[in-house]
Amino acid sequence: MNPVSTQRLAATPQGIADAAALLQKGALVAFPTETVYGLGADATNGQAVARIFEAKNRPSFNPLIVHVPDLDAAKPLVELPQTAQDIAQAFWPGPLTLVLPVKPGAVSDLVTAGLPTLAIRIPAHPLAQALLRKAGRPIAAPSANPSGAISPTTADHVAAALTGKIAAILDGGPCDVGLESTILGFAPIPTLLRPGGLPQEALEAALGHPLSTHQPDMPNAPGQLASHYAPDAKVRLNVTETEGTLLGFGPVKGTLNLSPGGDLTEAAANLFAYLHRLDSGTDTIHVAPIPETGLGRAINDRLRRAAAPR
Ligand code: TXA
Ligand code: MG
Repeated sequence: MNPVSTQRLAATPQGIADAAALLQKGALVAFPTETVYGLGADATNGQAVARIFEAKNRPSFNPLIVHVPDLDAAKPLVELPQTAQDIAQAFWPGPLTLVLPVKPGAVSDLVTAGLPTLAIRIPAHPLAQALLRKAGRPIAAPSANPSGAISPTTADHVAAALTGKIAAILDGGPCDVGLESTILGFAPIPTLLRPGGLPQEALEAALGHPLSTHQPDMPNAPGQLASHYAPDAKVRLNVTETEGTLLGFGPVKGTLNLSPGGDLTEAAANLFAYLHRLDSGTDTIHVAPIPETGLGRAINDRLRRAAAPR
């Protein structure tokens, strides 16, 4: 692909207007959401969407999440059964993606990879909200990292990996949640497709019953592959003592500690940034045990994929 010059845009009305204009003309713009940075393109423009796959070096059978500012903008794109509407009311905007039947012709077929469903999300981040409103069209955005690598939680992470491949990065500082969105499907019952920034327990409390985790119709998607979200260094889990590099949690102090007080929200927000930092200085990153509850489930999901054989 031909190199492009990558602009850094500030979180100002001018920066937002410039970013929206680039999206409208089919260029790629990385932007912050409360989960991770997304690599945005106009979801109705097939060529723009194709550039995402090119920039990320991503297998094109993997479908993308579409971002809209509010429910009114979601309605022309997907069917919203009653359960999905109730969940949307409770958790949107926020770190949740819903997989719903797509309306014909709503977005480029490249976005859905030909599936009859569309993954859709209303992010809460004020810059994402402002950008989506200004762009005035659905924006397809995977995490703004090369395929298989760790998701970016700062504009610098995006710049390090994608400079020369995308038109601009809208800089909104570090992401609050730090883990990708939770993905919920409805085929036909509510099913957890990916643990993420919204804890499973919160969804189950709203639904009044446990979620299914059986995924009969999962596409063959990198985010679902055993080895994904991986740093260059090898990753070893559940380590409490080592002479080498250790990513700590709670009382397991470590080279860096995700949360000395054992707070899973703080740990989630630090996870990818700390993996990025430790990755440059070592060939193995050891990681302390993380409890398998609340956001700990999503943290462990990402860590298991980072540690999987490749
Ligand atoms: O927090 C997030 O979700 C971030 C921000 C930018 O919104 N996005 C993100 O996108 O993590 P990505 O592409 O890295 O992960 C999207 C996941 C993939 O594993 C993909 O296979 C799945 O969503 N997905 C997309 N469309 C789907 C569909 N129709 N059915 C099932 N899974 C789908
Ligand atoms: Mg990703």
